Amino acid sequence: MKRVKVLLIGAAFSADLHMDGYSRCTDIAEIVAICDKDPDRVKALAERYNVTDYAAYDDMFKAIDEVECDVVDICLPNFLHVEAAKHAFKKGRHVISEKPLATTVEDAKAMVDAANAAGKKLYYAEDWLFAPALNRALEVIDEGAIGKPMFIRARECHCGSHSPFAQTIKYCGGGSMVHLGVHPVCFLLALKNNRWSELTALTSGGGENNLQHKKMEGEDWAAALMRFEDGTTAVVEANYVTTGGMEDVIDFYGDKGCIHVDLTFSSALNVYSIPGLSYTVEKAEITTGWSKPAVDEKFNLGYINEIRHFMESARDGKDAKVGLRGIDGYEALKVINLIYKSAREGVSIKNDGLQK
Ligand SMILES: NC(=O)c1ccc[n+]([C@@H]2O[C@H](COP(=O)([O-])OP(=O)(O)OC[C@H]3O[C@@H](n4cnc5c(N)ncnc54)[C@H](O)[C@@H]3O)[C@@H](O)[C@H]2O)c1
Repeated sequence: MKRVKVLLIGAAFSADLHMDGYSRCTDIAEIVAICDKDPDRVKALAERYNVTDYAAYDDMFKAIDEVECDVVDICLPNFLHVEAAKHAFKKGRHVISEKPLATTVEDAKAMVDAANAAGKKLYYAEDWLFAPALNRALEVIDEGAIGKPMFIRARECHCGSHSPFAQTIKYCGGGSMVHLGVHPVCFLLALKNNRWSELTALTSGGGENNLQHKKMEGEDWAAALMRFEDGTTAVVEANYVTTGGMEDVIDFYGDKGCIHVDLTFSSALNVYSIPGLSYTVEKAEITTGWSKPAVDEKFNLGYINEIRHFMESARDGKDAKVGLRGIDGYEALKVINLIYKSAREGVSIKNDGLQK
């Protein structure tokens, strides 16, 4: 069977998450080229995953022009997604884009339009939708075990992004809400078929107004209250003032029970270490003393099954599942921008699209 050929652009943090996925689906996918403006990162990534038969590039446009592939996988800073995607669609490739789809709603729309014009698929990498614990929670809800779901609290929070581009609004699209909050927002929208009816939000405001990261242009703390058409309410949180490792926590409350999902600290391991260990969980500052080191963190956060789903979809020329299509990334970014508007203007926003 023909394998899906992938050009991976970007060879650092998120590219490593994707590469682990590709390394576990070599039955249907092969990395044919890797591009990063830093050639050392390309080499290091390939070596880490034992990829030997690939072309290395340091110019993304040249790579897209020259590499014969089926899919271009974009693991670049947020502001570069749009140009890379448009170029790839012109070449007739399918595209995977990391989150957020773009830094502006207009750019996100341009990506969706470019995919449609090319007759190719835009896949939006929302890993939460493949997190096994979250999917199990949804099964429990579907069988009625917590009764009627009424309220969801969902957050992604940590101590700050490792990437310089996340410090400026132009390159990132905002602060913690667009960079981290896009996960819970996209998850909720996928769950509720985009049928949100009302939202209201507060952020720290960015720069000097931030709680802690005064040099960061975007906000370092943000929360939104949302209501959905079916009456469910939700609280979404995203901040960079959370120490101790990344918190990906989702709570579901029904009229006959509740579910607490902790994607990052639910390891079966409890370790006490005086010298510390090399790694425990994403964004943990220290590893000494008691810790709960993750067991297959990338699988539990959803990346591994996400990549397999995209490879199967590309192989079959199909759209990804709801929540993972370009249009879903576009809808999530629209909501994030309304969250910013609500916080800026101190207003509650209704979804006019729901009125018939
Ligand atoms: N799904 C997730 O959980 C998750 C986690 C982290 C990051 N991300 C997303 O992944 C994307 C990349 O973030 P990251 O954390 O990997 O960033 P990063 O800074 O770790 O890596 C970005 C890479 O892009 C390279 N690059 C920059 N400009 C380039 C250019 N013009 N041509 C070629 N290479 C270029 C850089 O050299 C760097 O190696 C972002 O959109 C981010 O939001 C998603």
